[in-house]
Amino acid sequence: MEQFVFFGGKGGVGKTTVSCAYGYKCAAAGLRTLVVSTDPAHSVSDVFDQQFDDDPASVDGVDNLDAMELDPEDEVQRHLSEIRENLSEQVSAAMVNEINKQLEMSHGTPGAYESALFDAFVSVMREESEPYDRVVFDTAPTGSTLRLLGLPEFLGDWIDRLMYKRRQSIDLFEKAAIGNNEPRRVMDGDPVLARLERRKEFFEYAAETMRTNAAFFLVLNPDQLSVNETERAIESFADRDLSVRGLVANKLTPEPDDDESGRGARYLRERVATERERLEQVETEFEPPLVAAIESRTREIRGELLTQVAAELDVDPAAPERAPN
Ligand SMILES: Nc1ncnc2c1ncn2[C@@H]1O[C@H](COP(=O)(O)OP(=O)(O)OP(=O)(O)O)[C@@H](O)[C@H]1O
Ligand SMILES: [Mg+2]
Repeated sequence: MEQFVFFGGKGGVGKTTVSCAYGYKCAAAGLRTLVVSTDPAHSVSDVFDQQFDDDPASVDGVDNLDAMELDPEDEVQRHLSEIRENLSEQVSAAMVNEINKQLEMSHGTPGAYESALFDAFVSVMREESEPYDRVVFDTAPTGSTLRLLGLPEFLGDWIDRLMYKRRQSIDLFEKAAIGNNEPRRVMDGDPVLARLERRKEFFEYAAETMRTNAAFFLVLNPDQLSVNETERAIESFADRDLSVRGLVANKLTPEPDDDESGRGARYLRERVATERERLEQVETEFEPPLVAAIESRTREIRGELLTQVAAELDVDPAAPERAPN
């Protein structure tokens, strides 16, 4: 298995639960593991009954397991102030005001929220993953964030053109100032060029890592809406030449014993039959294999239940081959 493992899926299907269970499984197998959540409800803190923030901290009572929670709202704000800071170095004060207004508006949109989260994922992959054999992300990139992975080619060309223009204008400036060494220094330390280069490199890293060192799983529930959503998600991964490694069916209704015939038992039997049809569709029509079918428990998955769910996940925790240094 790759170093980075993502669990995605529709709201409430069990992404956080399954991510924590898989993190636990990896840690129990002796891998140094980090679980990263971007859940605004701080559910990882709920699962482990312990407060986490945006610095990795060890999970009490579980060897090899760390967790961190990124708050999407904070990430959007951080994103925004970074852009502001960069701009204030580069444009006049009058422009900054105008641009600020535009930025505020654009950051209310879902695209901005997702791209801030995408940046946050990638930053964790780049800056926090070194000590870990496995980093488990609760929430896979969505269709719209996956589109960002197409950016290196697109952005690359665009940045190359911008950089060319920028160099040209510095060059012109230099020619106009013969005998003065200033422009050469401008070219070397130009903040705009430096920022463009950093951005391009960031997206290149993201695309490369997602392709070569990440595995994606989708969590679903055995109902039509969730199955449809999963189908669309598989397609959007395929559109980006990425594949979904496996599907985790969660919250399956348990079957009553054969000798039970009351109203409750009849309800459960019918429900189980419906869910079987949905799962059959998943198994016959979808390419990625079903790697777990987890029953609904009578209470939230924590403690001992988490260990049970971890055992039900047929997802190999084996460590990735680490390139020799
Ligand atoms: N197999 C299960 N049996 C019983 N409860 C479950 C099961 N799986 C998940 N739950 C519960 O369902 C709720 C939602 O699960 P979870 O938080 O993992 O979903 P999620 O996909 O991360 O949700 P969100 O989209 O809000 O982040 C939680 O209270 C969790 O404890
Ligand atoms: Mg969640």
